[in-house]
Amino acid sequence: MKRILLGVTGGIAAYKSAELVRLLRKQGAEVQVVMTKSAMQFISPLTFQALSGNPVHTELLDADVENAMGHISLARWADLLLIAPATANILAKLAHGLADDLLSTLYLAATCPVYVAPAMNQAMWNKMVTQENIQTLHRHGVKVIGPEQGDQACGETGYGRMSEPMAICAQLLANDKPDLLTISQYLKGHKILISAGPTCEPLDPVRYLTNRSSGKMGYALATAALKAGAEVTLISGPVALTAPAGVELIKVTTAEEMYQAVMSKVATQTIYIGAAAVADYSPVLSQPEKIKKQADQLTIVLQKNKDILAAVAADTSRPFTVGFAAETHDLETYARDKLTRKNLDMIAANWVGQEQGGFDSEENALQVFWANGDKSFPMTDKTQLAKQLMALIAERIQAV
Ligand SMILES: Cc1cc2nc3c(=O)[nH]c(=O)nc-3n(C[C@H](O)[C@H](O)[C@H](O)COP(=O)(O)O)c2cc1C
Repeated sequence: MKRILLGVTGGIAAYKSAELVRLLRKQGAEVQVVMTKSAMQFISPLTFQALSGNPVHTELLDADVENAMGHISLARWADLLLIAPATANILAKLAHGLADDLLSTLYLAATCPVYVAPAMNQAMWNKMVTQENIQTLHRHGVKVIGPEQGDQACGETGYGRMSEPMAICAQLLANDKPDLLTISQYLKGHKILISAGPTCEPLDPVRYLTNRSSGKMGYALATAALKAGAEVTLISGPVALTAPAGVELIKVTTAEEMYQAVMSKVATQTIYIGAAAVADYSPVLSQPEKIKKQADQLTIVLQKNKDILAAVAADTSRPFTVGFAAETHDLETYARDKLTRKNLDMIAANWVGQEQGGFDSEENALQVFWANGDKSFPMTDKTQLAKQLMALIAERIQAV
């Protein structure tokens, strides 16, 4: 069982942390809550006591603890410290090593991984000093979840909303605790269709047109979705990878075969992720016999293939539809254009070309866009990236 110490600080979003305790316990974690003085003005410790099944800690000096060093024993107890919501104030204190109450002292005494989920007014979040504090915490190894963009309690709009409890839970589980991940089922009940790899468009019996897609991202997404409890169908072009056990695998070769396979499955799915690099064009005619080396020049006439993503997104009862875009320039412009033109719910864009991750690489970085928001995932291995992207998809599905 994972032992999670949840720090709650003084912001409006403190009420959301009650749900967070419930979700974490549902995942099998034991939760103890530490509240700041300000937090107690927003929500009663009794709520957290009832939900966590443990007394709530609020004082640095607790005379009831045998040696009056509750902060040290709590820090030793925790496998993970999560502060949600994290106010601008606590972020500043943590970044500078202040220890003037139980939570900030605990942070200094903790040796376990630390996560913060900031929540504040958008101007407070954008203030240079807050951004510098976040950078400092990042450098110190603290992982930051959110904040999200949207309407705020203060009536303003922008970045500063605390991530939804389910999304925080998913990020915690996705990020670094494999044993926690195995008990996470945040996509249970979902049927996810993923297309992966390249397509091969034959020119003659021995030659074909293809691209450098390895299928690694799509296969990593299938593994992440499976571990998160989803039923997964993987439609794969020719790749040198083994599909994870438990996934329904459909192998195809050409863009037309991939189109047929996707369309035959999509009606029963709740999520479609188009991670395959489908050929845009294929030869009008595949020669029945090997083309001979004769003329100095050879012209091959290509025709446009069907647009699988657009076809899926055009369906009235379509699943939540996620596309991928690989670009060599103007990434955001092209990705946003594809998002609206193809009527997608979300698009994950990455740079390809020399010295970039992307095709045929173990690592990748993604910029994900949706109608009124975006999120960047820095360069990391595709297994990790897939977990983060699945967690974001789960969060966005809740939001629509
Ligand atoms: C109604 C109200 C709402 C507040 N909401 C937030 C908030 O969402 N985020 C934040 O950083 N501070 C917020 N504050 C300010 C903090 O409560 C204040 O900075 C406090 O000192 C934080 O203490 P703590 O970090 O020890 O919990 C709010 C204050 C009030 C009065």
